[in-house]
Amino acid sequence: MKRNLKVVVLIAGLAACTMWAGTTHAQGQTQAPIPAQSATQGQAAAALGAGTESGIGIFQQKCMGCHGNPNVPQAPAPSAVRQMSPERIYDALTNGVMKPQGASLSEEQRQMLAVFLSGRPLGSAKEGDAKDMPNQCASNPPLADPSASPAWNGWGVNMADTRFESAAAAGLSPDQVPNLKLKWAFGFPTGLSAYGEPAIASGRVFVGSDIGYVYSLNADTGCVYWSYEAEGAVRSAVTVAPVEGHGNTKYAAYFGDAHANVYAVDAQNGQQLWKVKVDDHFVARITAAPKVYDGRVYVPVSSSEEFSSASLDYPCCTGRGSVVALDANTGAQVWKTYVVSTPEPTRKNSKGVQQYGPSGGSIWNSPTIDVKRHVIYVGTGDSQSVPVPDTIDALLALDMDTGKIRWSYEATANDAFMGGCNGKSRTDNCPPVNGPDQDIGNSPILKDLPDGKSVVIFGTKNGRAIALDPDHNGAVVWLKQVVDVPKGMEHSFMANLNGIVWGGAADDQNVYYGLQSGGVVALNLETGDRVWFTKFPEPSHARVSNSCAASAIPGVVFVAGSDGKLHALSASDGHILWEYDTARPFETVNKVPAKGGAINSIGPAIVNGMLFMGSGYAVTGSNSGNVLLAFSPQ
Ligand code: HEC
Repeated sequence: MKRNLKVVVLIAGLAACTMWAGTTHAQGQTQAPIPAQSATQGQAAAALGAGTESGIGIFQQKCMGCHGNPNVPQAPAPSAVRQMSPERIYDALTNGVMKPQGASLSEEQRQMLAVFLSGRPLGSAKEGDAKDMPNQCASNPPLADPSASPAWNGWGVNMADTRFESAAAAGLSPDQVPNLKLKWAFGFPTGLSAYGEPAIASGRVFVGSDIGYVYSLNADTGCVYWSYEAEGAVRSAVTVAPVEGHGNTKYAAYFGDAHANVYAVDAQNGQQLWKVKVDDHFVARITAAPKVYDGRVYVPVSSSEEFSSASLDYPCCTGRGSVVALDANTGAQVWKTYVVSTPEPTRKNSKGVQQYGPSGGSIWNSPTIDVKRHVIYVGTGDSQSVPVPDTIDALLALDMDTGKIRWSYEATANDAFMGGCNGKSRTDNCPPVNGPDQDIGNSPILKDLPDGKSVVIFGTKNGRAIALDPDHNGAVVWLKQVVDVPKGMEHSFMANLNGIVWGGAADDQNVYYGLQSGGVVALNLETGDRVWFTKFPEPSHARVSNSCAASAIPGVVFVAGSDGKLHALSASDGHILWEYDTARPFETVNKVPAKGGAINSIGPAIVNGMLFMGSGYAVTGSNSGNVLLAFSPQ
């Protein structure tokens, strides 16, 4: 049986739509092969859709001469422009007050600016609203206590960020894993990156999106209960937790957006309870999941400044990472700890524009909560300026009550890095030595060992896995180089980027990390010794990265790749149990044309006999995609 299936790819929601026909294959599954054009489309989409992450360079070069310049007070501050919708910014540049400035840009650059500044794609505000979707849930019964039933709540399943779901909560045995089949798919309208990790609590999926909407769906069927429109892309996983002081509302859904706003919305119906901006810097943002524990929300703050700040007109660098503790009921700030001290003037660049430092230290990972020691662990990102403080590229242990740094471990010294600082585009805004770009992107994993000791484990982009002793101020328990530099890559910039980025999973024996250079490694928790390593078969022409976060259940490890493939491996010896290719079009419950693409940063959520995963990642120029997939064994 064959029937035609039409697939529409929306590029940044603009008129640039392309259609193609595919075919349905056997097994009743809609499987349209992706035609050759899709690669180019993916790249075009990526160029625009990098969107919420790129465009900063053009803004610094073409716009900040006025916006943010105290001598041009009429020009709205960059942070004010960032409050505007992508349509309003695009209109200003094409037909409005900024038409003269817009005229010196290409159409692609105008769109890119609109998407970067607003933090969401053109057209998303209208198309993303769940009210107009055909898959409404028939009813919305009172939300059950999220702690009373199995959940994958927030980023790492638990406060220790082990990304390990128990057998009872997973409801999925290793025997069933090879029989996992697609149950439903949901499309993010106009989306280019499905990079919000789905959270499942009280039988519902809560998921953010690059289009700035958060959705609540029924986990079994994918019907939609509500959507909430945030001010920018929501990349952070959502956490559902009890809230007080808001009438009958019992549970809130907590998350952060691309404009450094943190939200609490009623988990039952999506009504906003509070919204707080936790950092005023115009490129401050939240990419990782806030952790909610005992009435507090611990928020990781990052900055886009490192993507491109080489423009000599730009007074670089003043963005810096922080952790902010908020009252979960009100959003009121309890404390804020910056990774580096207040930036001060350092030097003037060759154009006479003042430069600043220290800077950087973005926190790209969800904080790990050590309940016993009353400590929060985070990994920090690189600096954009010199000299580089030792809290950069470090593991920080913060006191939960005060935010004070109790101890820190510097994994890489002297790492000042900025995009656009190689070759011809290099300016004297750039750090004298660029890189090696060793941000710690993964949430530290806290594990208790059989001998009663504990370890805090994390990984580096250059392939070190490091276990620290939380009872001895972060003394090294073991440190292993888990990936070798591939032959021929020794002298390239990529030599330092083969390792661990978004995180691992740990059971009681091993910690499992997917690697940037491809494959998965299992390390013994007590010694760090390699237990197994599995590399997936891959086409020789393309480097496939598996550096997104791994997830685990008893006996099984799950990891995805930049090729869109999802894999399940045996936890004991690494042999492959299941493979699923997400890089293709899907028919969706909400009838939105959708496809999978590259998978990066997020890992699958496994609970109640189902597996949930988003596919599509246009951020690094990889293949875009806008689909959330739900699997169950059949
Ligand atoms: C020569 C100075 C200058 C430059 C360069 C400039 N702007 Fe403006 N911009 C202004 C001023 C002044 C206003 C306020 C105009 C008004 O409200 O009449 C403004 C307003 C805006 C607005 C608000 C429009 C609205 O709907 O209220 C946007 C959006 C904007 N600029 C974007 C940009 C972007 C993007 C760039 C870079 C491509 C840019 N501007 C470059 C001076 C400038």
